[in-house]
Amino acid sequence: KIVPVILAGGTGTRLWPLSRQSLPKQFIALVSENTLYQDTLLRVAESDVFLPPVVITGTDFRFFAKRQAAEIEIHPTVLLEPVRRDSGPALLAAAAYVRDQHGPETLVLALAADHVVSNPDAFRACVNSAAEAASKGHIVTFGIRPQGPSTAYGYIKPGTVVEGTDAALVDRFVEKPDAETAARYVADGYLWNSGNFLFPAGLMLEEGARLEPEMTAHAEAAIAKAKPDLTFLNLDSAEFSASKAISIDFAVLEHTQAAAVVAGDFGWSDIGAWDAVHDVNAQDAHGNVTHGSVSLMDSRNSYVYTDGKLVAGIGLDGISVVATDDAILVMPSERSQDVKKLVSELSSAK
Ligand code: GDD
Ligand code: MG
Repeated sequence: KIVPVILAGGTGTRLWPLSRQSLPKQFIALVSENTLYQDTLLRVAESDVFLPPVVITGTDFRFFAKRQAAEIEIHPTVLLEPVRRDSGPALLAAAAYVRDQHGPETLVLALAADHVVSNPDAFRACVNSAAEAASKGHIVTFGIRPQGPSTAYGYIKPGTVVEGTDAALVDRFVEKPDAETAARYVADGYLWNSGNFLFPAGLMLEEGARLEPEMTAHAEAAIAKAKPDLTFLNLDSAEFSASKAISIDFAVLEHTQAAAVVAGDFGWSDIGAWDAVHDVNAQDAHGNVTHGSVSLMDSRNSYVYTDGKLVAGIGLDGISVVATDDAILVMPSERSQDVKKLVSELSSAK
């Protein structure tokens, strides 16, 4: 059986003003009644394939992690990071936890908590293919056919087939290339890395120990010395804080020889920015998506979200409006990526 590990400690600044440092996007309902975190948990709910999940997140988010899971009757083990060190140390600590609980051969499915998968059945079929390759000793990525030369993703060049599976070896993995390189990769048939990984717990730790020995040693020690607190498990603060901050993509995936890829078409989006939220939601006949109390006249291809106050628009075309209690964002939707820049200049965005 597979242990799902949900990485839920990131902060999505490009969805400001809804996503905040104190309430990141995984804990917000953006495309369904459930939050992205809840939909992620439901996608891998306990079954004949999956064991109960492990969640790893920052200590500030511990009550969101617990309560939102309980609302859908899922009761994960919640590991808490004392400080943010990016996805590398978090994923290795969770892998160490699974290895110590279930053994080094146990398969881990590490999932981002903030993605949309509109076809969960297709996703689970991919997981089954990936599990075959993983149990032959691979760290399996899920490749997505690119929709353009985005610089927000990792790029994967598929190589030869892994004998007797639907997976291919990874010839090359490049995390977030520049725009020119990304365009070349798209033309050359590279895939996007979806940011989800399936691997034997022990193998990931071996690769971590080889490629980033200090970080991996701190992550393992943070688990070995972890202290339970109520129903949480606190990673050891001195050990975890001593690790450098680095993503799993830069730490392991770019360098390991053990990577494989399964190409998947499961309606994936990481809804990284407001234009993507517009795209994944059902649009009306004029291409508009609205949330909350909204009234539009002669408008098209626009996205309007409001938390409370009525928002009215006339003649909007390709515009996004996001209105919360204390902040209102208005922009052409094609400027969605620039929100990150805006937020870094705005201290009130915290
Ligand atoms: N627990 C924990 N702690 N989780 C974290 C931390 C952390 O410090 N930092 C990030 N995460 C979680 C995020 O919540 C998210 O679920 C996942 O790890 C990935 O982190 P992101 O920060 O969102 O990474 P990214 O979007 O820039 O890039 C990754 O995803 C892309 C696809 O969306 C990479 O894997 C890319 O290669 C990939 O293309
Ligand atoms: Mg992301």
